[in-house]
Amino acid sequence: MNLKGNWNYPTLIRFGAGRIRELPEACRTLDMQRPLIVTDPSLAKLPMIANAVSVLADAGLGAAVFCDLQANPVEANVTSGVATFRSGSHDGVVAFGGGSALDVGKAIALMSGQSRPIFDFEDREDWFTRVDVKGMAPVVAVPTTAGTGSEVGRAAVITDITDHTKKIIFHPRMMPGIVIEDPELTLGLPAPVTAATGMDALSHCLEAYCSPFYHPLAEGIAVEGMRLIKEWLPVAVRDGRNIEARSHMLIASSMGATAFQKGLGAMHSLSHPCGANLNTHHGLTNAVVMPYVLAWNRRAIEEKLARLAAYLGLEQHSFGGVLDWVLELRRAIGIPDSLADIGVRTEHAAAFAPQAFADPSTGGNPLPIDTRQFEQLYLNCIRGELAA
Ligand SMILES: [Fe+2]
Repeated sequence: MNLKGNWNYPTLIRFGAGRIRELPEACRTLDMQRPLIVTDPSLAKLPMIANAVSVLADAGLGAAVFCDLQANPVEANVTSGVATFRSGSHDGVVAFGGGSALDVGKAIALMSGQSRPIFDFEDREDWFTRVDVKGMAPVVAVPTTAGTGSEVGRAAVITDITDHTKKIIFHPRMMPGIVIEDPELTLGLPAPVTAATGMDALSHCLEAYCSPFYHPLAEGIAVEGMRLIKEWLPVAVRDGRNIEARSHMLIASSMGATAFQKGLGAMHSLSHPCGANLNTHHGLTNAVVMPYVLAWNRRAIEEKLARLAAYLGLEQHSFGGVLDWVLELRRAIGIPDSLADIGVRTEHAAAFAPQAFADPSTGGNPLPIDTRQFEQLYLNCIRGELAA
């Protein structure tokens, strides 16, 4: 199969190996003459960023690189990017990298022409209407990991250091105008990063699929995303140079983020406080908590997971079939079993539970869940105990 395509939902996507060469054309389509490339500091040292700058320069597009951002990005990263954007008279952003770089890039484009502080645009009620749309710069997104799906998302997750919470900054037009998905850019990802980011994509599909809202389009995308992940994530972890596996994982990642317009759930609610307070890796944390959250939600999702099991071709067409598959997949790709294994201690449970409860993902959990129950669920994840 020729793994190449031009798609127009959820936005314009140019998919296929080698398509990073189309970056100048993508920038021009969005009327950019002086794009600011936003990436993370480790990626900025790699040839792929130098290549992007020279490809743009050859096409007569002056580009600069901004890379002053951290793994769980904070407001200061966005503020300093906006200063660079303005002082360099840039007219658009190329958000190039993993979830953090994509989120910061999208946030810089949003904030480039606003006068209010970023947390005024948190995803609450109709706060997005506070945005001056004319002050938003266009974005080309280029993902280099397969998990976050931020390239097709309308939000950015930025940590508020005043209260150590991850806040979702949202505007419908934060969806990048053009996405270039070139699986060759993901060939060099180390196996642990491939595993952790791939499990983030799975958590998006799985939580979206299980969330209680009515959105059959999203469910359809989620189940096929999970099938691709089941077939190809173990291959991508084992053999990082396998372009077919990298291709399928890259689109599965975009499918996860497309699907989670339907909602997320307690996996993300539990994960965000760990990332905000302890800097744990987002995808890895989701992967660790995944089976505990499934077990917790069991009575609300048994029927749905039986249907999913049939589609995935699992031996048992039941909740247990999916749970066993998740546990086996985690083992096969080297994900630790409990939150204790990644530095979360029992005393964190009570402290993180209110933050998890307040997380916007909580509303999408299949069962209602309160602060006390979040504390119990944290303890399950820390001790490695699946709810009966
Ligand atoms: Fe996620």
